[in-house]
Amino acid sequence: MHEWIAILDFGSQYSQLIARRLRERQVYCELLPWETPAAELRRRGARAVILSGGPASVLDDGSPDCDPAVFELGVPVLGICYGMQLMAKKLGGIVRRGEDREYGLATLDVLRAEPLFRHQPEQMPVWMSHGDQVELAPPGFVALARTAMCPWAAMGDDRRRLYGLQFHPEVVHTPHGGEMLDRFLFDVCGCRGDWRMATFVEESVRSLRERIGEDHVLLGLSGGVDSSVVAALLHRAIGPQLHCVFVDNGLLRYKEAEQVEDCFGRAFGIDLRVVRAGPLFLERLRGVEDPEEKRRIIGRTFIEVFTEAARAIGPIRFLAQGTLYPDVIESRHPRGGPSATIKSHHNVGGLPPDLKFELVEPLRELFKDEVRALGRELGLPEAIVSRQPFPGPGLAVRILGEVTAERVATLQQADLRVQEEVRALPSWAEIWQSFAVLLPVRTVGVMGDERTYEHVVAVRAVSSLDGMTADWYRLPYETLDRIARRIINEVRGVNRVVYDLSSKPPSTIEWE
Ligand code: XMP
Repeated sequence: MHEWIAILDFGSQYSQLIARRLRERQVYCELLPWETPAAELRRRGARAVILSGGPASVLDDGSPDCDPAVFELGVPVLGICYGMQLMAKKLGGIVRRGEDREYGLATLDVLRAEPLFRHQPEQMPVWMSHGDQVELAPPGFVALARTAMCPWAAMGDDRRRLYGLQFHPEVVHTPHGGEMLDRFLFDVCGCRGDWRMATFVEESVRSLRERIGEDHVLLGLSGGVDSSVVAALLHRAIGPQLHCVFVDNGLLRYKEAEQVEDCFGRAFGIDLRVVRAGPLFLERLRGVEDPEEKRRIIGRTFIEVFTEAARAIGPIRFLAQGTLYPDVIESRHPRGGPSATIKSHHNVGGLPPDLKFELVEPLRELFKDEVRALGRELGLPEAIVSRQPFPGPGLAVRILGEVTAERVATLQQADLRVQEEVRALPSWAEIWQSFAVLLPVRTVGVMGDERTYEHVVAVRAVSSLDGMTADWYRLPYETLDRIARRIINEVRGVNRVVYDLSSKPPSTIEWE
């Protein structure tokens, strides 16, 4: 059993960030609902508990509360912001309602360096975001630091190993926050920090084998990072009991279907059923121009094709999906986050009722960059591991107007040139998505002595953290120049290239 830290989530916007910070320190952690019973934490052997911040006030009736036995587990507890106030209130201290919110940078005066502020300056900036604050710490606690507004900016009880921070050590605006977390994890909790992808692979393989036994698993492979990593991991765990279905809808990037087939079918030797359904999708899209109608047709056709391929394999007990940790957290706090929309075409939601599966979601605990690291650990090629997000309806939402075989081929060629040029940039990893869009207008040009009247391609590149908001990416002029020249010279039917300078909001990343 590896060491792990439980983070009880009181709903702060920073809760996920705490998890990120711990995992960056190679300490495995999980964000759990605030009401998780202490007995469960004990049974699962949590090395320590962190109480996150949250938007509520501990002074309000019905505000999120934790099991009081959390403080009696005998493991260290660190309360952050709301978590500190809750700790103070439950252990006999006094919390005062704040008239104003203190928000922003404050100067922390360290009163006692041990254990959390060891080797850090006596004065340092910290990030505050709170209304209420601790007026008197519970018996057994001493003040470890204060600010002008906050006499109890940090408190601790060494005997019980309980600590509280009024500010946020997890955000970048607290420059020494990472060191404070180090001190808590490595000095107070005695963590080893030995959580590695190799360990994750070993443990996942063991638990997948145990759960799946002799049964079989079906996976819809899309060629995207998540389903690819699930395929590689399951293949390692259960080999021939894994069956993958890859629906080539004819709307993928140039040679992408072949790449998936090569990697999973040939190199990995996975039982991969490729359904070449491009003509069917195109047939159903004929004459359709409305973007939502395109999505509906593609979604419905995908389910139909996938179902047929699944039935052909025979009875299967499990269905694997590439659900990631942010999706899990988001579905717990339904804020309508981005992943819900991003995933809508990938997860096989609308399967007919007689096809019943138990779900296997081996990436549920991982963040996206961890999934990429896992993919590398499993030997997936970089071209797959570092792929950009790609919409389920594929090039259909990048071909404005009717989707035809000819227009798909034109866009594939233009897009290939964008990919090649952008991939060559050292800043490649900063770009969230980059692609070409085929516009339904024609413009006049000249080629040699001849007047041309051909199509326009828009190039789009954006930076983003999660797809929810995005900024247009400042591609170097030289790159833009090469992209434009290559598309105009090499792609038949295109005589003009424009660059999209819009950000999201108010625009969206895709054009449809
Ligand atoms: P927008 O265009 O809404 O896109 O700013 C946000 C992110 O979602 C992707 N996207 C989709 N993904 N099915 C998908 O699976 C869709 O219908 C879809 N529409 C947009 C888009 O590529 C971007 O990453």
